[in-house]
Amino acid sequence: MNILGVETSCDETSAAIISDDQVLSSIISSQQVHSKFGGVVPELASRAHVRLIVPIVQEALQSSGFKMDKLDGLAVTYGPGLVGALLVGVNFIKGLALVLDKPFIGVNHIEGHIYGNLLTQDSFDFPVIFLIVSGGHTQIVLMRDHLEYEIIGKTRDDAVGEAFDKAAKMLGMGYPGGPEIDKLASKGDPKFFKFPRARLKDAEFDFSYSGLKTALLTYLNNTHEAIVKDHLPDICASYQTAAVEVLIEKTLKAAQRYNANYVGIAGGVAANSLLRSWLKAECEKNNLQIFLPELEFCTDNAAMIARAGREYLNRNIQSGQMLNAYPSLKLGQNNY
Ligand code: KG4
Ligand code: ZN
Repeated sequence: MNILGVETSCDETSAAIISDDQVLSSIISSQQVHSKFGGVVPELASRAHVRLIVPIVQEALQSSGFKMDKLDGLAVTYGPGLVGALLVGVNFIKGLALVLDKPFIGVNHIEGHIYGNLLTQDSFDFPVIFLIVSGGHTQIVLMRDHLEYEIIGKTRDDAVGEAFDKAAKMLGMGYPGGPEIDKLASKGDPKFFKFPRARLKDAEFDFSYSGLKTALLTYLNNTHEAIVKDHLPDICASYQTAAVEVLIEKTLKAAQRYNANYVGIAGGVAANSLLRSWLKAECEKNNLQIFLPELEFCTDNAAMIARAGREYLNRNIQSGQMLNAYPSLKLGQNNY
C-alpha cells in the first residue's frame, strides 16, 4: 500500500511517502522562525505551514520517484496540536484527496509517534507497553492490539519534554532544550546534585514534573552564577537522570503488571541517549524486548503518520470531507 503522509501539528512541516513498511521519502522542514522567541509562536507556525506545505509535498513525491496517481491513500495529523497549524495539513489533504479521488484518514499525532516506532519493528506480539514522551505528553499506554490504546498513566502537570525545554531556558540554552541538555549531560556527573523524583505512590503509573522544574529554579536562585557556569554539564546530568529514572521505573512496572513482553518508547524524548541506553539495559535484565525508534522517527515526522494511516486504510476505515482539526484530541478518541 502506497501512502502519502502529512504532519503539520506544531513547528515541523513534513511529508513522506511509504510503500508498505518502506519509507521511500521523508521530508521534514523544522521552522527556524521560533528560535528567537524561545518557543513556538502559533500564528507564525500556521503561516510557515501555508508557505511550505506544497513544496514539501512536491519534494517528498519527487524524491520517492512516485507519481500521485500511484498513491493508494493519504494520511494527515488531525490532532492534538496547534489548531491553526493542524488545519493547514487537514485542509490540504482533504483538497488533494478530493482532486485525486483517493481515500484519506485523519491520524492522532501520538498514535503517529507509536507507529513511528513500529515502522522499523519486524515482528512482535501484543500486548505492548508504550512510554510516550514528547513535548506535550508523558503517558504509559497499553496496546492489546493494533489501533487499541489504554492510557494507564499520564503526567499530572508538565510533560517530560517540557521539563527539558523549561530547564534549558532557565540554564540559558536554546529551544528545543532537550537535545542540548542531552549533549551536555554526557560530559557531566549525574550525582552532582540530587534532584527530586516524583514517584506518586497513590497513582503508580502517573508522573509529575513540576516539582523537578521548581527544584532546579530553587537551586539556581541559591547558587552563585560562576558555580552554575562551571558545573553546567553536571547540573544537566543530574537533572536528566532525575527526569529519566522515574520513566524507567514506571515503564518496567507497567510491563510486569500487564504481562507485556514488549516495551516501546515514542515521541521526541525517545531520542534521549540516557533514556535509550538505561531502558535497554533494564529491559535486557528483565527479559523484556525493547523497541527503540530510529532517531529520525522520534521527533515529528510524516512517515509515522503515513504508517499509522496504513493500519486504518488497510481496514477500510477512512475519513470524510467533514474531518476537522482537534487541538486536544485524546489517544483512542476517534473523531476521524
Ligand atoms: O515529539 P516531538 O518532536 O514534538 C511533540 O509532539 O511535542 O517532541 C519534542 C520534544 C521537545 O520537548 C524536545 O526538547 C524533546 O522532544 N527532545 C529531547 C531530545 N530530543 C528531542 N529531549 C531530551 N533529549 C533529547 N535528545
Ligand atoms: Zn510529536
